[in-house]
Formats: sequence, C-alpha cells, structure tokens
Amino acid sequence: MSKSVPHGGELINRIDFEYPIDFSNPFIELDNLELSDLELIANGAYSPLEGFMGKEDYESVVHTMRLANGLPWSLPITLAVAKQKASEIESGETVNLVHNGKIYGVMEVVETFSPNKQVEAEMVYKTKDIAHPGVKKLFERAETYIAGPITLINRPEKNHFTHFYLDPIETRQRFADFGWDTIVGFQTRNPVHRAHEYIQKSALEMVDGLFLNPLVGETKSDDIPGDLRMKSYQILLENYYPKDRVFLSVFPAAMRYAGPREAIFHAIVRKNFGCTHFIVGRDHAGVGNYYGTYDSQKIFHHFSEEELGIKPLFFEHSFYCKKCENMASEKTCPHDRKYHVILSGTKVRRMLKNGEQPPKEFSRPEVVEILIEGMKEVFTKN
Ligand code: ADX
Repeated sequence: MSKSVPHGGELINRIDFEYPIDFSNPFIELDNLELSDLELIANGAYSPLEGFMGKEDYESVVHTMRLANGLPWSLPITLAVAKQKASEIESGETVNLVHNGKIYGVMEVVETFSPNKQVEAEMVYKTKDIAHPGVKKLFERAETYIAGPITLINRPEKNHFTHFYLDPIETRQRFADFGWDTIVGFQTRNPVHRAHEYIQKSALEMVDGLFLNPLVGETKSDDIPGDLRMKSYQILLENYYPKDRVFLSVFPAAMRYAGPREAIFHAIVRKNFGCTHFIVGRDHAGVGNYYGTYDSQKIFHHFSEEELGIKPLFFEHSFYCKKCENMASEKTCPHDRKYHVILSGTKVRRMLKNGEQPPKEFSRPEVVEILIEGMKEVFTKN
C-alpha cells in the first residue's frame, strides 16, 4: 500500500450495497455536483469527511480553511435543499438521496442550517460576481443546507472509460504494485499540452511515479468534454510516457473554479488517493481574472507540510521557447516573450473548432488529431 497517510489518519469507507432501503423515508434530490460528492465522501477520497458538512465544520472551513477539529480543509462540501423541504425533516431522520429517480444513498440527518452565501462567496471564491461559474452555481442552489453522515448504496453509472474509475483504496494498491514510494499527483481539466507534459516530467525526475488524475465531473460548458480528453490522454501516454512510471485514473468531482482554495482541496484529495507530492502550476483551478497567477501556490504557506501531509511542487508559467529550442519557464528562460509559444485556452479551443492545428511546440500532433476529430463531433451534435 502507498506510504502516504490518508487525511485525518484513515480512509473513510461508507459504501454499503446491502443497505436496506426504506422507501417511506423522505427523498432529497441531488444535482450532479452533489451526486459526485456523495460518491467521493463514500469511497474515502474526501477523508476524513463522513457526510455533508454540518454548521460548525462549514463555518470553520469558510472562515479558517480548517474543519472544526483544526484539520486543514478548504472547500465546503454541502447538500442544499429548499427551505420548505428542510422544515419537514427532523434531525435523527434518515433520508434517501436521489438523482433522476434513482436512490444512490442515504443520510442520517443531524441538522439543517441557513448559510450566508454572500460570506461563502467572498471567503471561498474571493468574489460575489455571478459571472464566476462557481459563484453562479452557489447562488443558484437552494437556500438551506442539510447535514449528516451518508452511506452510498448504489454507484453513479459510468458510461465510458469505466476501468479508469478507481477508489483511493485501489489507486493505493496500484502504486504499491508498481513499487512506488513517492508519487506526484497531477490535476487537470484540460487536454495535456506540452507545458503540462513538461511540468509533469520535471516532477517525475524527482519521484517514483506520476498519477495523472484528470477531473471528469461537471465542468463549465466551454471546457473540452471529459470523454474526449480521456482519448487524448491515452494516446499521449502511449506515445510519450514510460508505462511503468505513469498511472491514469479519473477524478469524478465537479470543478468549482475556486482557484487557491481548490488547489488545497485538490492536493488533500490526491493525498487520499495515495500521492506524496502534488503539482501546482500557474493559475491552478482558476477562471477568468479572479485570481493572481501564483495565488494557488501562495495559499500553501498557510499550512505546514506536516499538517497537509502532501508536498506541493510549484511550477512557473511554462512554454516552448524558440531561442532555447526547448520547453522552459519564466524561471529558466532568459529570452524575450516574442520567442515563446503561448496560446490561451480560448484561442486553442477556437483553433480546434475550426479544424486548425495548434503548433507542435504547443501540443503533440497525436493529441491535436484526436481533439480536432472529437470537437467536430461535439459541434455537429450541439
Ligand atoms: S486546472 O483547472 O485543472 O488547474 P489545467 O488543466 O489547465 O487547469 O491545469 C492543470 C495543472 O497544470 C495546474 O496545476 C496548472 O496550474 C498547471 N498549468 C497549466 N498550464 C500551465 C503552464 N503553461 N505552465 C505552468 N503550469 C501550468
């Protein structure tokens, strides 16, 4: 098993497929984000959480980035219900957690409470602007949070790439099978371009294995769909990475776009999957211009390495430099910006949509080919 200790000491397991469902219990409808959180609490990815957060943990996380017991934790993990519905449910009751008519779990209700969403937005997202996708989602949710320990009784269905969905206990076993002691985790919601590859491989020079763990839960509509990204990861790994040094599996959480706070969350979760190190590059989990380029790195200074239990590896903005004839970063390249091959995400998506190839210094041709083909399908479907 991986040598990294789960957050809080042990991996939580709240999965019970034999749980006897009581259909007379109240039903609570989960959205996509909440359903993915339910599974990730149950399989231990969110250890030490055992359920959706109660008021004390919630307020502590919002204000101090710690659970009420002092353990670092940066994002509220909550379940929202309409006020009317909440008023019908007593603490101590068990509720069925439902999505599209199917029961996926149950929760023993401890309490319901009203969050101050203005404060949550300001503290967690550093903005109340509803143009921010995470803030928009927050304000659209129902007004009451309902909290308590959960049990997962049915797995959310996976339509594609089913063998890339692994629980933390399984990834830990895989790392042990590889014989890796040190593992660096890589979060991404994008295809892996040359800059990503460069920082991954630079990190891999220092550790035993690379855990490529793309987020495939809910993302904003203009991000490249998860299925397509998965194809691009596989072709890239086949062609450019040593098989015994990289392991690919997915992270089925929703993206919050909370920048710095989400970087801490991403690191803690990867620790639970068994990583000892975690890559944080430029503008990690950011969107628009809400966060400074390196804010997601600076936030790690709030915590000691011991209490986080995973070592962040920071990388500066990376690119191909035509003068260096190499991948480089702001830290290692002395040349003028005009020699740097830098394309914004928006520009790349536009190129792919139009069937144009981004330069090979930006993205591997094999990856580009998959993306252009895939984007054609996406746009003929929509
Ligand atoms: S994220 O929302 O998942 O962070 P993305 O998939 O773009 O978005 O980034 C994955 C990781 O690579 C993050 O740690 C990010 O900071 C880093 N990163 C992305 N592009 C670059 C780049 N050009 N230079 C350095 N780091 C980068």
